[in-house]
Amino acid sequence: MEEEKGMPLIGDKFPEIKVQTTHGVKNLPDDYKGKWLILFSHPGDFTPVCTTEFYAFQKRYGTFRELNTELLGLSIDQVQSHLKWTEWIEENLGEKIEFPIIADGTGKVANRIGLIHASSGTATVRAVFIVDPKSIIRAILYYPAELGRNMDEFIRMIKGFQKSDAEGVAIPANWPNNELIKDRVIVPPAGTENAIKDRKEKEKKGEIECYDWWLCHKKI
Ligand code: BEZ
Repeated sequence: MEEEKGMPLIGDKFPEIKVQTTHGVKNLPDDYKGKWLILFSHPGDFTPVCTTEFYAFQKRYGTFRELNTELLGLSIDQVQSHLKWTEWIEENLGEKIEFPIIADGTGKVANRIGLIHASSGTATVRAVFIVDPKSIIRAILYYPAELGRNMDEFIRMIKGFQKSDAEGVAIPANWPNNELIKDRVIVPPAGTENAIKDRKEKEKKGEIECYDWWLCHKKI
């Protein structure tokens, strides 16, 4: 009997799916191993908010690539529709969309990863999956049709994940402009008495600063 597959969640490996894109067939997630991936779905081609989103993603594509991050769009449209739409964007708005877009005409991918919601009918919601270089899903975000996304937040999230992974720290609200600790980062909460002791020693030496033993921060 085939194993029942639920919706993928944060911490799961991204499901293995072969997809048709505007750049040919891709195998998810293996074709993106070693890179960060932002997979984002939109309700449909030739729609106004989606057009502003594609323009905004493309404007920042260089920044994403500097962060070892690839972009991959998706909607329940045919590849010819994606190609016509991106041609329109280039001719009318002056931006060539350089990243691939999944043509999920049958809804196979959308159904597998949970992109069809009660509010979205037969179209996909605006979902964002952030997948790390080991193919692990690190974040899932959903937005309704009427609200375009903020690409700068995805850049902030990628930078935050990369800092967190490299330094073993957590990232505060609004980082790097946090109201309390500015661009400093959070030392993960201590889980043992020894860790609390260690934290207090580090505080005495000036290596970290604390509001209390469970809210410590440092400069990196
Ligand atoms: C849009 O991208 O403009 C849009 C798409 C679906 C529903 C509403 C708006």
